[in-house]
Amino acid sequence: MRLDKFLSESTSLSRKEIKRLIKAGEVFVNGAAASRPEQQVNEQDIAEVRGERIEYKRYVYLVLNKPAGYVSASEDKRYPCVTELAGEKYAHYGVFPVGRLDVDTEGLLLLTNDGGFAHAVASPKKNVYKRYFARLDTPAEEKDKALFEAGMKFKDFTAMPARLEICADPREVFIEIAEGKYHQVKRMAERAGKKVIYLKRVAIGSLALPEDSAPGDIFEAEKGWLCEKIGIRSDI
Ligand code: URA
Repeated sequence: MRLDKFLSESTSLSRKEIKRLIKAGEVFVNGAAASRPEQQVNEQDIAEVRGERIEYKRYVYLVLNKPAGYVSASEDKRYPCVTELAGEKYAHYGVFPVGRLDVDTEGLLLLTNDGGFAHAVASPKKNVYKRYFARLDTPAEEKDKALFEAGMKFKDFTAMPARLEICADPREVFIEIAEGKYHQVKRMAERAGKKVIYLKRVAIGSLALPEDSAPGDIFEAEKGWLCEKIGIRSDI
């Protein structure tokens, strides 16, 4: 690929700025000064801009602890968007949320600009279980477990078998679902006669939020590591 493409995809620099920096002798490729924006480079090359080492990066994968009050979108008229939490450093990547959490739901949400990865994580066919912690308005009962295990038929979709775990305080439960349909956990709880008053996603497959993570925390992760944790192939 061209050097200016390599740098514009891996940094927040515009092609115009890159051209100027090359001209000013501030760009190096594998230790040698670059002379032209069209110079051919590949993904293994290491560039340096004003002394800063730049590795090629087309896609990014961010693990966010979503706070309540943010909408799972890149644009919204009413609420701030989760993509704003990625900050300046990732602004040029055009990340979007992988699936969605309701505006009042907290917890684990992935942001990426890799459409194939997002599709694989969200696809019900891949059988990736999402684990939620919920607080209910009334205590869960042992008999509710069978309701979740049987799956549930709704007007617009049929939920695959889900798991319900009841905590020491039966108003607190963990629910695991394979899909991520609109209000799915809230609707399943409602079917059992309970209202969800607090909801947090705590894991996707075996990718869990770190114990000490606070709402708003975000970190970048490697695709291979994420795929292994989530339980999907990394060559998607
Ligand atoms: N189920 C819900 O009801 N809400 C969410 O945000 C996620 C799953």
